[in-house]
Amino acid sequence: MTVEWRPDGRQLHLANGLVSCVLRVADDDALLLLHHGAPLPLGQDYAHLAPTPTPRHGERVGDPMPSAYPTSGIGDFRIPALLARGPDGASTLRPQYRSHAVEPGKPALPGLPSTYVESPDEAETLTVTLGDDLTGLFLDLRWTLYRDRPIVTRSATIRATTAALDLDTVMSAVIDLPDDDWILLTLDGTWAREAELHERPLIHGRVAIDSTRGISSAQHNPLLVLRRPPTDEAHGEALGLSLVYSGNFLAEAEVDSFATTRLRIGIEPTTFGWHLDPGASFTTPEVVVAWSDAGLGGLSAAFHGLFRERLARGTWRDRDRPILLNNWEATYYDFDTERLVAIATSARDLGVELFVLDDGWFGHRDADDTSLGDWVVDRRKLPDGLDALARRITDLGLRFGLWIEPEMVSPDSDLFRAHPDWAIGVPGRERTQSRRQLVLDLGRPEVVDHLADALTAVFAGAPISYVKWDMNRPVTEPYSLGLPPERQGEMAHRAVLGMYELYRRLTERFPDILFESCASGGARFDPGLLAFAPQGWTSDDTDAIERLAIQWGTSLAYPLGAMGAHVSAVPNHQTGRVTPIATRAAVAMFGVFGYELDPTALTDDERTAIRDQIALYTRHRATFQRGTFHRLASPLDPSRRHAAWMVVAADGAEAIVGVYGTLNRPTPESLRVRLRGLDPAATYTLSMWPEIPGDPLAPAATGPRTGADLHATGLVFDRERHAAATLGDFWARLIVLERR
Ligand code: DGJ
Repeated sequence: MTVEWRPDGRQLHLANGLVSCVLRVADDDALLLLHHGAPLPLGQDYAHLAPTPTPRHGERVGDPMPSAYPTSGIGDFRIPALLARGPDGASTLRPQYRSHAVEPGKPALPGLPSTYVESPDEAETLTVTLGDDLTGLFLDLRWTLYRDRPIVTRSATIRATTAALDLDTVMSAVIDLPDDDWILLTLDGTWAREAELHERPLIHGRVAIDSTRGISSAQHNPLLVLRRPPTDEAHGEALGLSLVYSGNFLAEAEVDSFATTRLRIGIEPTTFGWHLDPGASFTTPEVVVAWSDAGLGGLSAAFHGLFRERLARGTWRDRDRPILLNNWEATYYDFDTERLVAIATSARDLGVELFVLDDGWFGHRDADDTSLGDWVVDRRKLPDGLDALARRITDLGLRFGLWIEPEMVSPDSDLFRAHPDWAIGVPGRERTQSRRQLVLDLGRPEVVDHLADALTAVFAGAPISYVKWDMNRPVTEPYSLGLPPERQGEMAHRAVLGMYELYRRLTERFPDILFESCASGGARFDPGLLAFAPQGWTSDDTDAIERLAIQWGTSLAYPLGAMGAHVSAVPNHQTGRVTPIATRAAVAMFGVFGYELDPTALTDDERTAIRDQIALYTRHRATFQRGTFHRLASPLDPSRRHAAWMVVAADGAEAIVGVYGTLNRPTPESLRVRLRGLDPAATYTLSMWPEIPGDPLAPAATGPRTGADLHATGLVFDRERHAAATLGDFWARLIVLERR
């Protein structure tokens, strides 16, 4: 890993043998990014990668110069990184190279979550400083290169020096690519349909995803992935940009008349504005840029490793996460102490390790129209209080976990009656209804202080070892009574910074609590929150077949250990679908496993099945939660009637393959699943779960077999093809491979 400076050509080359970035200071002192991608040799001049400006009326107007941080008004008409106005109101800026510095390690970003290093030799950070003479605007552009990963992170700081500035657009990064031969992948959806993976070729013009909801949203994940057209899961070039941010964002690609591509990602500009007085600065969220020539699987592995090891932090980062049972779908708001203890006792008997009390334990909350903000136990339901309940649960040998939704307030709450001005809204204007609750203005420090105190009292008042932090509505009528009218553009970002500050205080004050983020499922499933909560509730949709697609898409950037995944009752509460309990478990095990059902209502067979599931997951927990994930057969492929994926233990000693039948057909097509990530020279024994007498799929688990064989010929499920045709819909099998 090095940052090579070639003074002759004023070239900077970040290289670690896995990825290269080449920057160059042009003759007019503009900073160009000539290359971000495949590793390039050091010791060479890459001036030939810069287009030669075509003189046209003595100017280079319109030529696609690959600016490292493009501004507007100076002849580059594509999407800019920065729009800012100086005292004269003009938004033309020409930032020019002033200096650069290289430091070991990686600095933290003020008030923002970011990836980190544990020792300074894990990464190097280059900061290039540019200045615009007329406005006094200075830019510190940061690139951090990790030593052992194909990863570069970027962020920018804008400083006002001699005069005030108004920032209108401040992207975290722009990357210009020299061609448009790419397919763009995004994760899109809505409530209960998160992370649907969509692909489209780049064509001339712009394609953008964004959020203006105050949260990163279920509609689009703050992630852009490009793959070359032939790239598949295992081969070929791919580039990914992932924004470490939980609020409004924009991610965009533009192909210009020269068929070159510009990517940009950062805070969504139409809901953003920021005023800088002289001496003040603004730092953007971080973007993580991963590059791979080992297909989408290689790209995902790069994101997974970084997010698991150097974004997630704290006590729970590397620890086994407990198998939980959450009472939401078992009881909704309708419970009392004895019912909860009965559920917990039954869960304990099945092998569950953590009981989570969801919504409805506070205020007088029997529905979603009341009490948010009043974080005081409801003694109608829990007469002896939370502590007494938690102790009864922990006395059973279980951990106790609790649901909160701290960023919200119900109009019917003591908090709202005392502080109506703390809710976001425009004075004099009716507030848009959503789930009969309002969003608190966490941009106001007094609101964060209050919530930190209120929640500290809750967390310190009972033996709580897990917290599910929910967030169930978007921000509307964005306005802060804590800001003057001319600074309202700052409101949305300040609210996100306040949310991070609240998370920071509570996670630091309670380092042993495992936090799980949630936003009506996956409406805020982003890298920003992973820095505080190492796992998130992937979706409210717990239907196993739907979950195949949701977890497949989510895994494009997020590791299995970040994805909460539960077995729920059938008919499924979201889809009405009935799937076998083994299938529900075989999907949920590829994540942080748990249950979301009433264990007192199970049949004996279901109880036996669940004990067996928990035993299997516990035995392979480290692999499921911290192994290397490979997507094998896509549930999104309409020509297939099956899906498959696998996870390989960090030490390679075992692997688990999940194979899932979706809609069965007579005379089925061949079903072979070629594996990946095994040691070709090693021999593996194979066993199948669940064990079913006479299972027509069982011959796939004959063994022992070598890794090379399993890569080349795969698991063969079609030996009893016609018997397999009668399996019915929604079957699943896990194949456990153990290295001999
Ligand atoms: C939305 C979450 O996604 C659910 O799991 C549940 O916690 C409800 N909120 C409770 O209101």
